[in-house]
Amino acid sequence: MTAKIISGKEVAQQIREELKKEVAEMKEKHGVVPGLVTILVGEDPASISYVTAKQKTSHELDFHSIQDNQPPDVSEEALLQLIDKYNNDPQIHGILVQLPLPKHIDEKKVLNAIDPDKDVDGFHPVNVGRLMIGGDEAKFLPCTPAGIQELIVRAGFETSGAEVVVVGRSNIVGKPIANIMLQKAAGANATVTIVHTRTKDMAAHCKRADILVVAAGVPDLVKPEWIKPGSCVIDVGVNRVGEKISEKTGKKIAILKGDVNFEAAKEIAGAITPVPGGVGPMTITMLMKNTVKAAKFANNIQ
Ligand code: GUN
Repeated sequence: MTAKIISGKEVAQQIREELKKEVAEMKEKHGVVPGLVTILVGEDPASISYVTAKQKTSHELDFHSIQDNQPPDVSEEALLQLIDKYNNDPQIHGILVQLPLPKHIDEKKVLNAIDPDKDVDGFHPVNVGRLMIGGDEAKFLPCTPAGIQELIVRAGFETSGAEVVVVGRSNIVGKPIANIMLQKAAGANATVTIVHTRTKDMAAHCKRADILVVAAGVPDLVKPEWIKPGSCVIDVGVNRVGEKISEKTGKKIAILKGDVNFEAAKEIAGAITPVPGGVGPMTITMLMKNTVKAAKFANNIQ
């Protein structure tokens, strides 16, 4: 059996089209335009490329968008003041501070300074707590896990009562996706297990997974024999294993590999995400979805 390849690129495009319509309707009926600011400190090339992609998408969706670049030596105090300015700007509904920040700045302090109702990354402790409580409380789901849930649901997998096994316990992916799939809600209601570096028999847990989410950051960690035939495999790993020359641009680009041996796994799984082109394209799209949600909350739009 060859697995269905879940294209995050296609699903992301589909959601962006849905969002574009929603944004046009908000503007027409309510005169509200979602506003997003992305704050970049310094000149880290990976961060620049992420922020540029976020800005490009928000422009395509006709958001009011601001790219705020700060020098690498900006003080923590100045950054906190900047966040305070955007917290009080009614045209801005979402604030994103690109991570990592330079060492002289306390990342926690900065993230905690963002108004939880503008925290479209879903990283603020208030939003982490809201997700834990679930139901109407859950306001902004962190973008990568929210994208993973969309992929599972849109691939047609039943989540209610399903065995979901999550490999990895990070705050950005492992813990929140486990929490999301556990919720008493559509697209969730799963029985969830998290496995990690100290788990005794990782293979045994993975083998019973109807839905396997792998976010460990270890290339080829999950062996083909760990995969339950017909299951849904979501590979969140983005491991740089070398470099190559791009056929399109002639420039050097990274060779990326997931946490799952894709070629072997696709002969066993029912559906699987590729790397790249799987989970990656969903993250930015979910950021846009959170920004639309934030604009609706701020303006009491149902
Ligand atoms: N750096 C890498 N990924 C992310 C992300 O999802 N959000 C923010 N704010 N910074 C990041």
